Amino acid sequence: MNKEESLACKSESIINNSYNNLGVANDVAHSIKLGNDEQCNAFAEIERSARERFIPIILGDSLDELIKLIEKLQPKRILEIGTAIGYSGSIMLLKSTSSILDTVELLDYRRDEALVNFDKFGVTDRVNSFLGDASELIPDMIEGNKYDLVFIDGPKSKYGQYLDQIEGNIVSGGYVFCDNVHFRGMVMNGIRPPHKFRTIIVGMRKFLERIKDSARYESEVMSKGDGIAIIKVIK
Ligand SMILES: C[S@@+](CC[C@H](N)C(=O)[O-])C[C@H]1O[C@@H](n2cnc3c(N)ncnc32)[C@H](O)[C@@H]1O
Repeated sequence: MNKEESLACKSESIINNSYNNLGVANDVAHSIKLGNDEQCNAFAEIERSARERFIPIILGDSLDELIKLIEKLQPKRILEIGTAIGYSGSIMLLKSTSSILDTVELLDYRRDEALVNFDKFGVTDRVNSFLGDASELIPDMIEGNKYDLVFIDGPKSKYGQYLDQIEGNIVSGGYVFCDNVHFRGMVMNGIRPPHKFRTIIVGMRKFLERIKDSARYESEVMSKGDGIAIIKVIK
């Protein structure tokens, strides 16, 4: 395992511990109604398998909000940072049947599994899957594209950096949906963060201040799952 992979795994183990401490580890199993029993069973199987292997996929309450947004927006183009095994990506594409998804994942074995899942749900021809570090790949990934929706679900200390990189490529009226913004309940409570989470917590607090204060955005932060921020780009 190289340094980047090790960092990704470390950050995930922190998140998985967070889920356990929040008592929401078992909340992942989510009955997603896609009108097709075979697909529902396949999603339930992915959720079960992700839970068993401690792969952090979006939690049920947060997913409900993402689905509501997708159904309302019917985005032409979506950018996702943090593909994992293609769970959220497949759902977004099944809920918005004309959307194109550009998605990036650091770990090759996760990305390989995502490709299998995209195929399983018949969405492969609407996915551009990128392998590598998001900060490095984003400039090439987004060049010439405009996004109606961005789903930020990668490393938690980098949300501000990702917003810097992508904000010029989001349409006016478009949205940025961010997961895990409460990070184990430590972001909003004002306490001094424990040393090992300091970068994540301080970075997330700054990120939330920034979106609240910016005239460019209207944002709502909700206590769903591990906390979500839904940001509308108004300028
Ligand atoms: C929370 S998971 C994504 C879950 C997925 N969006 C879902 O809900 O099904 C975050 C993913 O980001 C990946 N990741 C971590 N660091 C990354 C980086 N620097 N660039 C791209 N992906 C990264 C991790 O390997 C992990 O699979």
